[in-house]
Amino acid sequence: MPKYTEIREKLNINVKKPDQTELAYLTHFLHTYKNGASHYFEEPATQYLINILDKFDKVSEPYFQPYLPIEWDIPFPSPKKPKFKFIDLFAGIGGFRLAFQNLGGKCIFSSEWNHFAQKTYEANFGEVPFGDITKIDENEIPEHDILVGGFPCQPFSIAGVSKKNALGRKHGFKDETQGTLFFDIARIIEAKKPKTFLLENVKNLVSHDKGKTFKIISKTLKSLGYNIHCKVLDGKHYVPQHRERILIVGFREDLFKNQETFEFPKMPEASHVIEDILEKKPDSKYTLSDKLWLYLQNYAKKHKAKGNGFGFGLANMDGISRTLSARYYKDGSEILIPQHGKNPRRLTPRECSRLQGYPDNFIIPVSNNQAYRQFGNSVVVPLMQAVGNEIVKELLKLNEKHTRESNSVCTEL
Ligand SMILES: C[S@@+](CC[C@H](N)C(=O)[O-])C[C@H]1O[C@@H](n2cnc3c(N)ncnc32)[C@H](O)[C@@H]1O
Repeated sequence: MPKYTEIREKLNINVKKPDQTELAYLTHFLHTYKNGASHYFEEPATQYLINILDKFDKVSEPYFQPYLPIEWDIPFPSPKKPKFKFIDLFAGIGGFRLAFQNLGGKCIFSSEWNHFAQKTYEANFGEVPFGDITKIDENEIPEHDILVGGFPCQPFSIAGVSKKNALGRKHGFKDETQGTLFFDIARIIEAKKPKTFLLENVKNLVSHDKGKTFKIISKTLKSLGYNIHCKVLDGKHYVPQHRERILIVGFREDLFKNQETFEFPKMPEASHVIEDILEKKPDSKYTLSDKLWLYLQNYAKKHKAKGNGFGFGLANMDGISRTLSARYYKDGSEILIPQHGKNPRRLTPRECSRLQGYPDNFIIPVSNNQAYRQFGNSVVVPLMQAVGNEIVKELLKLNEKHTRESNSVCTEL
C-alpha cells in the first residue's frame, strides 16, 4: 500500500502559495475515495493527475489505481470506521478537525484561505483545504452530518437593502447578512441541511453592535429550521489559559423534533497550570531583549498612571495565562514567562500549541511568526471535543432511532 508521504512527494503536494485549488481537489479526492463523496472532487483531481504525469513524462499511469488505497502516514489520519461525516469551515490549522476526528468523525470537506494555515493543515491531516469560502458554490460541498466552524465576527449592515425588500422573502437572512462570512455559513446550511452544527466565536459576539449581530445570527439559524443552544465556555477547564468563547449548537428541527437532550458539558475543575505546558530547555532567543523589556515596563507604567490596566502579563507558574491572541507574534507581551536572573521570555510555538490543547505530535511546518498567529487563532481542542461529544451522542441516538424504525418497517413488510 503506498504511503501518503510518498504520494505527497510524487504528486507535488506542497502548499507554497495561495489558491492552489488543484491540490485541494486532489487531496479531498484521496480522502473521500470510495466513500460516496468522491464524485465531488474526482474530475479536477484526475485532471491534475494527468497534467502532472504529463509534466513528468509518465504516461503509463493514467489513473489513481496505483495510489489507492493509501496508508495515511500523517500524525492525524481519519478514523478507519467513521461514525459520522463532518465539514470543517474556517478551518485554520484544524483544531475542530482534531476534536471531531477524535470523536470518530470523518472530515469530507475543509475550507481555509490562508496558505500558511493550509500548509500546517496538510502536514497534519494530509489534506489541503479549499480556499475562499465566499467563492465556493454550496452545491459543490458533499452531504454531511455535522458542520463545524469558527467564523470571523463582522457587523451586519443592511444599508442599501430596505426592510420592505427583505419582507416576504423566504429567508430574510440573504438581505440581512449578505457580504459577511456568516452569510456563507447560512447559505451552506440552507443548501446542505446538516443534521447538526457547532459554530464558535469570540465571547464579544454576544454584545457586538448592541446585541444586534447575535440576534440576526440566532434568528437566521432558527429560520433555517434549527433549534439553537448557546453558551459561553472557558478553555481554562481543559488548558491553563483563560479563553472564553461563545458556542452555538443547532439541531435540525424536522429530525430531532426539538427533543434532543443536548446539554453543554459540565466543566471539569480547572486544574491545569502554566508550569505543565512549559518546555524544559527553551532556546535563549525567546528571552526578551533589554530594549523590549524596558519598553514594555515603561508602557505599562504610563498606562497604569492613566488608570488603564493594560500592559504586559507576567504569567503565574501555578496559575493560568491570559488569552493567547493572533497578535502574540508581535511582542508576546500578553503572556510572559518569568525567569530567574534574566528578562522574562515569550512562549515557544510548541508551548502555544499546548496552551490550546494540541498534542505534541502536531507538526508545525511554518515560521515562528506564522505559528504564533495560527495557534492564537485556534480553538481549545479538548473543549471543542467535550462539546462535540455531547452533539455526537445526540446524532448517534438519532441514527439508531432511524435504524430501528427502518428495521421495524422491514419486519412488517
Ligand atoms: C478564528 S480562525 C479559526 C481557527 C480554527 N478554528 C482553528 O482551530 O485553527 C478563522 C479562520 O478563518 C479564515 N478565513 C477568514 N476568511 C476566510 C474566507 N473568506 N475563506 C476561508 N477562510 C477564511 C482565517 O484565515 C482564519 O484562519
